[in-house]
Amino acid sequence: MFNSTRIDKFNQLETPFYFYDMNILEQTLNSIQSESSKYGYHIHYAVKANANPKIMQKIQSYGFGADCVSGNEISRSVECGFPASKIVYAGVGKSDKEIKTALETDIFCFNCESIPEMELINELAKQEGKVAKIAIRINPNVNANTHHYITTGIEENKFGINRWEFDSVIENLKTFKNIKLIGLHFHIGSQITDLSVFKGLCLRINEIQEWFKERQIFVDLINVGGGFGVDYENPDENPIPDFTTFFAIFDEFLNLKANQELHFELGRSVVAQCGSVMSRVLYVKNGVNTKFAILDAGMTELLRPALYQAYHKIENVSANGETDKYDVVGPICESSDCFGKSVKLPKTKRNDLIALRTTGAYGEAMASQYNLRNIANAVFSDEIDPA
Ligand code: LLP
Repeated sequence: MFNSTRIDKFNQLETPFYFYDMNILEQTLNSIQSESSKYGYHIHYAVKANANPKIMQKIQSYGFGADCVSGNEISRSVECGFPASKIVYAGVGKSDKEIKTALETDIFCFNCESIPEMELINELAKQEGKVAKIAIRINPNVNANTHHYITTGIEENKFGINRWEFDSVIENLKTFKNIKLIGLHFHIGSQITDLSVFKGLCLRINEIQEWFKERQIFVDLINVGGGFGVDYENPDENPIPDFTTFFAIFDEFLNLKANQELHFELGRSVVAQCGSVMSRVLYVKNGVNTKFAILDAGMTELLRPALYQAYHKIENVSANGETDKYDVVGPICESSDCFGKSVKLPKTKRNDLIALRTTGAYGEAMASQYNLRNIANAVFSDEIDPA
């Protein structure tokens, strides 16, 4: 990831910054494209993972659609070249203004999370003289075995519609003339590395499809959301998630009806490994039992460790040789602004360049200006690597 040419370039740049390796992104996109097209699956990129325009334009160039969770994400997707006919829009709290944006944009499908939401979309679509296509987001009550903050598919959850509400949804839909049910949508959580979870999801969807079939309800598409995890421990050994196995699970276990489409909303697995936060050591400070490496990047550039105790591999790319242990922390006035405790690094000194790896997903996208900090720049490999 960091050859000497890149490091020389980095040394001329102001830190912290987000670095994107466009080769890794392209290899990932090639793999998704070739593996999903074996089965004719439809891919929507989950924009929430990274809404950087250059990243989005690259993803769009592969012909994928977009999965949005706000009116602004819809507008950004259109600006970056995603066709409206491939945009899906999810979210438990879609505002009137956002629904209007989506209707005016003529997006492909709303993923609806409640009956009151369907009622509002119906009303606003009527005002526009349109019929909005919707999928209902079903809570399949499948446990994703991931961090509780990013589990979404179990019953006691703000997301989706539970099984006991199906009858009422169907009754209501009959009266909503300006929405058309075209799909069933699912998303059970994120950073799922235990692939048997996806098998469990497929089996549950098969059951749910039977319920709808018994009531003579047939939908054009199934959308299984995102959630496929990446290898945070070994970014260099496993830069590209195993999409071959991932898509094969759905082919094997999900019973699609004739002509029924299968859609995915992949976020993290598309962009996580291409990104790193590059930062410099400001000070090495000796505590009582601990040495602190204080970086110029903090939770403002990468919130995941502070918010979810998430692990990101930390590398000192300026040094090698004899090692020591450091608590690697940021400059923000919060004790949780810590990237790792007792991290083994080559002996580290002021101005060393530190890479926080696997930050392409939910890194830049979750940046904040807390402490009135600047939003860090993005730097792309194709702009700094020799041609
Ligand atoms: N579809 C829906 C409905 C979602 O809620 C999400 C993510 C995705 C697709 C994309 O999931 P992915 O393929 O990226 O796992 N900020 C957290 C992750 C939150 C994920 C929210 N929903 C983190 O940094 O781990």
